[in-house]
This record gives sequence, C-alpha cells and structure tokens, in this order.
Amino acid sequence: MNSINTSQPIVYVGMSADLIHHGHMNIIGKAASLGEVVVGLLTDRAIASYKRLPLMTYEQREIVVKNIKGVARIIPQETLDYVTNLELLRPKYVVHGCDWRDGPQKATRQRVIETLAQWGGELVEPEYTDGISSTQLIRSVNETGITPSARRALLGRLLRHKNIVRVMEAHNGLTGLIVQNTIVKTDRGNAEFDALWLSSLTDSTAKGKPDTELVDSTSRMRTISDVVEVTTKPIIYDGDTGGSIEHFPYLVRTLERLGVSAVIIEDKKGSKRNSLFGNDVEQTQDEIPDFCQKIQAGRKVVLTSHFMIIARLESLILGKGVDHALERAFAFVGAGADGVMIHSKDKDPAEVIEFCRRFRQIHADIPIVAVPSTYAQVTEDELEAMGVNIVIYANHLLRSAYPAMLRTAETILTHSRALEADQQYCLSIKEVLRLIPENY
Ligand code: SPV
Ligand code: MG
Repeated sequence: MNSINTSQPIVYVGMSADLIHHGHMNIIGKAASLGEVVVGLLTDRAIASYKRLPLMTYEQREIVVKNIKGVARIIPQETLDYVTNLELLRPKYVVHGCDWRDGPQKATRQRVIETLAQWGGELVEPEYTDGISSTQLIRSVNETGITPSARRALLGRLLRHKNIVRVMEAHNGLTGLIVQNTIVKTDRGNAEFDALWLSSLTDSTAKGKPDTELVDSTSRMRTISDVVEVTTKPIIYDGDTGGSIEHFPYLVRTLERLGVSAVIIEDKKGSKRNSLFGNDVEQTQDEIPDFCQKIQAGRKVVLTSHFMIIARLESLILGKGVDHALERAFAFVGAGADGVMIHSKDKDPAEVIEFCRRFRQIHADIPIVAVPSTYAQVTEDELEAMGVNIVIYANHLLRSAYPAMLRTAETILTHSRALEADQQYCLSIKEVLRLIPENY
C-alpha cells in the first residue's frame, strides 16, 4: 500500500469488496485518475445491515483491497451511511457506480451529495459495468459448496454482526433450496434467511410420523445430509430432549462433524410431545440438575469453539411463568449452555418480553432465541428491541405446502382428471425442471 500523498486530492471510494471483479477495478481506476484513493471498506456489520453477511471477513477483504493498484489507504466504514467518514476526510471526490441512483442506497447517495457540497466536493459516478452480477457470482460460489468447518463457524459470525439472525425451517433438500436462495428486495436492501432450522415437527410430519422423537436421529441425519448437500447457510438443529445423558454426547459429536452450528435441546423428559400442545397432553419437565448434567455432558465433547448448545425453556409452554423459566435459564447458562431459547404458545408475547428483559439484566451477551409461531404478529424489529438475537420461523414452509397439495389432490378427484389442478395450482413441468439447475 502506498502512503498518502497530500498534494493530491483525496478520492473516497466506499465498497464491500467481497467478490472482487472487473467492475471494482473500473471504479478504482477512475478514482485513481482523480487523486489519492482512500477506500472506505464496509465492515461486516455495515454490509449485513442491508444484505447478506459477506463471504469474506473484514480482515480478509482488507488484505485483498490493500493489494489493488491505485489504492493508497483503507479505513473502515462502520455504517452504510458515508457521512462520518466523509466529514473525517473531507475528500474532493467520492466515486461510486451509478447503480445506486435507485433502490435502497438512494437516500445514502443523497446524503453523500449534500455532505460533499459543504466543502465543494463532487460525486463521480462511472457507468455500471455490464455483464457482471454479484448475485450470480454468489450463486456460483454456493454451487461450489462449503466445508463443514466453514459452515459451522457462520452462525457465530452472524450473531456478532447482525442485530437479529433470521432462521427458516427446512425439512428436505427442496425446502433447503428455498431457504438458501429466496431473496426479496425491500426498501432496506436485500432480505434473505440467514440460517436453516432442522425442525423435529416438520421433519417428522413430512415423514407422516408424530413429533415424539419417534423419528430417530439416524433418520434425522439423513434429512440433514440432504439439506447440507444443496445449501451453504448455517444450520440449527432441533435436538428435542437431546435423548438420555449417555446418548446426548454422541448427538453433539455427529452434528458438529456434519458442520451444524448449534443444537437446541428442551428441558423435558419422558415421552416428548410437541410444545404447542402445552398442557393439553402430559408433558414433564426435566429436573434442573439432570438437565444441567446433560448440557455438561454435551459441552465436554465439543471440539471446536464454534459449536453451540442452546437450552430451551419449556416453562411458559407448561404455564409455569417467567420466574420458573428464568431460574432454569440461569442454571442452564451456569452449566455451560451457549444460549437460551424461550418458547411460548401464547398469542400475547408479554411473558417472552418479560423473560428477555430480566434475562438481559444478568446476561448482556448470551444469545436469546425466540420462536414466534403463535405470536406471529410480532415483527423482527420488535423482537430485536426485546433483546432477541435469533428468530426461528419453525414450521412455515411445511404448513404452507400442505394446503396447496391437498387442494390439488381434491381437485383431481373432483374432476376425474388433472387438467383443472394443473392449470390452477401447479408449476409447469418446465418450471419444476428449472428448480434444480443441473436438470438442464
Ligand atoms: C419444532 O419446530 O419442531 C419445534 C418448535 O420444536 S415447536 O414446534 O413450536 O415446538
Ligand atoms: Mg421440535
């Protein structure tokens, strides 16, 4: 990296520089022709605030950018907004591709123009380089796959750099692909899911089986394997009760080896039933010392610093109140749990809110997981404000697929032929084939 030459005007270039391509070189080349280039490298947190977490960490991206010809200096840009860095450097020019005139960065651009105007600075916007799409590059990278160790570390990175980690259930390869690839443009940038939830309810239901730990871990591992093969996002595994104290370490070992980032186990024992039944069926909570022992047995066999064991509190589900849940949460964290999941089947989130507030008074940094299946009206912003770090949409792909399939089956029976269902409810054969890129 060259030292700064103060006789030349400062040219500021804000960039993520995750997947460097010739479009970036075009921008830097243009900037270098105007003066000394200072790159404001967006931090992981700044990038995650408007799109996915970058593939490379800040430190890795810094090494790459430092070695690009024409770059004199790099400073971190901590927010999507440029103003702080611009006021610090008072550059003569800011160079940015013209693609931010519309879309989520429009307001950011406007603030750049207004700030530069204070000292007569100028925004320079080279034409966007055609024929390159970072979305397409990301797809190609994803198709290459990911190692178990790289995938395992991703959840920790997300927790460090995102205010709330958004998780969606998957119960087979196809739903895994939906969680992996679905992106929606919003006024805050691109929205996508950060991670996959391997739900016991949806895995069991998809197999036509009850959610009672009947689908054994060998079968659940098959599902993980199917999902792992077609995705690169981190995985959180629903470990039900975790099985017996003797068996739980084996589950932990297997999951960690597969590249799963976290297992969540619930403080229940005996014949497990789905939580959303609450007290309508017999459900017994485990004793605190026994569950602590199970957590410790699991922690003892964890090999990497990335694998997390998260303790799930069933107290609210069983109508035992917030004090009861908190006592357990504190004990389980004391036993080594890396996070807690507070579950509730109430439509009103009041108890969850109180739990989070009081838990946060003691543990500022231990991740809290929430599953807003019954209090679905609560937004991610509201959950974040409550202190929740991970939101899990636990069953929604399965719940939406089932009515669609049933309607199709009924329509075929009603008409004694497939035409009506085909025309009204089905993807075309062509579209189905296109779902899996390797088909064509
Ligand atoms: C699951 O998805 O299997 C869960 C969450 O454990 S719940 O169904 O709400 O209990
Ligand atoms: Mg479950």
